[in-house]
Amino acid sequence: MKKANCIIDRENKIAVIDERIYGSFIEHLGRAVYGGIYEPGHSKADELGFRKDVIDLVEELQVPIVRYPGGNFVSGYNWEDGIGPKEKRKRKLELAWRTIETNEVGINEFMEWAKQVNTEVMMAVNLGTRGADEARNLIEYCNHPGGSYYSDLRINHGFKEPYKVKTWCLGNEMDGSWQIGHKTAEEYGRLACETAKVMKWVDPTIELVTCGSSHKFMDTYPKWESTVLEHTYENVDYISLHSYYGNPENDTPNYLAKSLDMDAFIKSVIATCDYVKAKKRSKKTINLSFDEWNVWYHSREQDTNIKPWSIAPPQLEDVYNMEDALLVGSLLITLLKNANRVKIACLAQLVNVIAPIMTENGGGAWRQTIFYPYLHASIYGRGTVVNPLVNSQKYDTKDYSDVSVLDSVAVVNDDKGELTIFAVNRDMEDELNIYCELRGFGECKIIEHIILQSYNVKITNSKDNPFRIAPQVKNDAVIEERTLNTLLPKLSWNVIRLSEKK
Ligand code: AHR
Repeated sequence: MKKANCIIDRENKIAVIDERIYGSFIEHLGRAVYGGIYEPGHSKADELGFRKDVIDLVEELQVPIVRYPGGNFVSGYNWEDGIGPKEKRKRKLELAWRTIETNEVGINEFMEWAKQVNTEVMMAVNLGTRGADEARNLIEYCNHPGGSYYSDLRINHGFKEPYKVKTWCLGNEMDGSWQIGHKTAEEYGRLACETAKVMKWVDPTIELVTCGSSHKFMDTYPKWESTVLEHTYENVDYISLHSYYGNPENDTPNYLAKSLDMDAFIKSVIATCDYVKAKKRSKKTINLSFDEWNVWYHSREQDTNIKPWSIAPPQLEDVYNMEDALLVGSLLITLLKNANRVKIACLAQLVNVIAPIMTENGGGAWRQTIFYPYLHASIYGRGTVVNPLVNSQKYDTKDYSDVSVLDSVAVVNDDKGELTIFAVNRDMEDELNIYCELRGFGECKIIEHIILQSYNVKITNSKDNPFRIAPQVKNDAVIEERTLNTLLPKLSWNVIRLSEKK
């Protein structure tokens, strides 16, 4: 058995968490919309065609914000194709994913669904094939109360109240050659600046996210960020980060350390934002929207065999195992540790497409392994994030050195009088005996210690075996002399919930 010490000092605060850090993403891609959230004719579909079983699972996650409608999809999307009578909507070739888009679901349907799952929408505008004009029309349609062409059109479509969409993305991954309407940083920066200007003229209450790099291995990174911000700095509020991780080399210790990569990416984007801030002598700080992050590699080969121009084919349907859940846990811990600058983050995506929720067309819906760390962080990780001082064994891997066996963060919820510790034991062999000194807290009691683990990290959940990986509650943690002591099983995700006597 290994041992680790940590100190959780209430004063070692990082930030009050913006709940949008637990956001997610639905793109018109594969079976995310059609066969995922929407399947008229399904026994569990409501009168609008939305699957109630999926709604229940999304509600369980308490997702505060969902990015929509893309992704790569948005760069070729004409939002007007998805409004008005359904029978008149055009079927179109969707070039990003080479499918047929039926447009049965558009803005109004998605806003209805969002209302049902009690989430806010983070809307993306098309800056691939389109520009400022369509973006200002879209925001007029969504947010203007009435008395203008597009706002009255919305009212005619049956939606009297404006949607008041607050958070908007200025395009998607515009640095990537795969993107429809790919641009240089100069081209995109100018377009994003002009689009931002007119969108804020239509509705000054909105917040805007400008596109950062598609990932940190792009040749243009981080020059892309600095050039784009040179153009947009005073007109936008956030810059986006995207990153996906995988274990194609089947090296678990190295894979579980990949959250260090996310941390380095975040730190370097913060540095770039602050460099432009200094250069511009600006008083404003640009925050980060990590609006695509997840594990994505299992399905990459399968996807090459999908027939083009079909409707809602099974694309990007990664089946996640236990080690993926551990990495997702560490990625969440990393986002929380950077919550002073990361204000929005979206687990990409939500249903079927690289997602925590899976469905079968005409059949059931179930939770993938990664559902659980996301669920726990979302429901227990609201409040102020505190950085624990950790002293545990370290290991080296192919790509990383000094990787702490214990990865951990704490969240204090003053309203509820609760302290929650999220922890991953990355050790391949041993359980970890942790001693955690609680400084600055009143008398604490253990509510529960939730554990996600498995004897084999390659195990997955499936339609026929949906609960193979599921959390268990263990209650042998103790607190003595303001020190919490408990055991973290090898390769486990842990949520230790404490209540504080006031
Ligand atoms: O989430 C899947 C895809 O990954 C998105 O469409 C794109 O933005 C990213 O490359």
